[in-house]
Amino acid sequence: MPDRTRVAVIGAGPAGLLLAHLLDRSGIESIVIDSRTREQIETTIRAGILEQGTVEVLTETGASDRVLTVGQKHEGIELRFAGEGHRIDFTDTVGRAVWLYPQHEVLKDLVAARLAAGQDIRFGVTAQRVDDAETNRPRVIAEDAEGNPVEIEADIVVGADGSRSVAREAVTGTHGGYFREYPFAWFGVLCQAPPSAEELIYSNSPNGFALISQRSPDVQRMYFQCDPHTDTEAYTEEQLWEILQSRVPGTTLTEGPIFQRDVLRFRSFVAHETRRGRVVLVGDAAHTVPPTGAKGMNLAVCDVVLLADALRALLLDRDESLYDAYPEAARQRTWKAQHFSWWMTNMLHLQPDAGDFDRMRQIGELRAVVESRAGSTYLAEAYTGWPIQESIHR
Ligand code: DHB
Repeated sequence: MPDRTRVAVIGAGPAGLLLAHLLDRSGIESIVIDSRTREQIETTIRAGILEQGTVEVLTETGASDRVLTVGQKHEGIELRFAGEGHRIDFTDTVGRAVWLYPQHEVLKDLVAARLAAGQDIRFGVTAQRVDDAETNRPRVIAEDAEGNPVEIEADIVVGADGSRSVAREAVTGTHGGYFREYPFAWFGVLCQAPPSAEELIYSNSPNGFALISQRSPDVQRMYFQCDPHTDTEAYTEEQLWEILQSRVPGTTLTEGPIFQRDVLRFRSFVAHETRRGRVVLVGDAAHTVPPTGAKGMNLAVCDVVLLADALRALLLDRDESLYDAYPEAARQRTWKAQHFSWWMTNMLHLQPDAGDFDRMRQIGELRAVVESRAGSTYLAEAYTGWPIQESIHR
């Protein structure tokens, strides 16, 4: 006999867990499954920047208070090029801010909230496919950690299972999506050192891009542009510091032991369809952005806020209008964020085939942004996040 619930959620990442949390607040029961263990979910290092609207959703719905105490409010970023830093002041331009609060901390808060509320969350359960999308009883076919079959029948199945989504096929069939690959990746490090700057530095240098971010008073996160095939062990610690220092000319980074390395791929993707019948995609399963604009987790949160409204109307009031409007409402924001992420990426990175003209044009573009109130305001507005309410069609 299959398990039965109202909403079956595949994936215990930010999208899946926040959706379950919002539904629970409206008395809508759900089951969340994830192939990973709780420990894997809570320790995997991911992005770090939350838009103001994301922070408001987390705090106002009781999902996280720690974001305000452990997280750090950032009221600007530095764009560095041609040997100089230029601050984009978020407060002055748009009166909004972002918070540095790593994704795995958000996940710890959401898992804790879910377990405290006695909600059903199953770790080590791997979804294999979704059946019967176009009926009123879609089903998740899965397997637990011991290889036993698991079947969950629901009113709605939500694919919140990331860029390698298993649920996606039930929605898009063979249609796939809009796709762009970039000829570079990021080499990310975590190091034991005090911060090198008070705010994030996004640096365009003749040697390629670097991002100087932070984690805590004694742990820092930094990235530099690399070839997508780079091995994480390709460099010694000394070489890594040499590369990082050379990418932020005019600044000296405070060095310390590097204790974690990873290579992040760069892709832009939007699924052609995000809903079929009773199966819906949210977050990275529906779209992936390159990391330069810090949009990934924030887009997932916006999808989920819209979908929670739509599911409340559908499941509690039998009103299908918001559910029908969901794909287009989510898509409009997705494409604005796709553009912003693509723009930041191209403005800041060195293309492998760039000539002198391209390099000089990029510096002209950066000057046009930092020297113009309109240019800085656009960047600040997109980075801190367009208001979430704007996307809700009622
Ligand atoms: C971090 C990651 C990003 O992609 C970004 O744009 C800013 C910060 C981070 O991991 O700290």
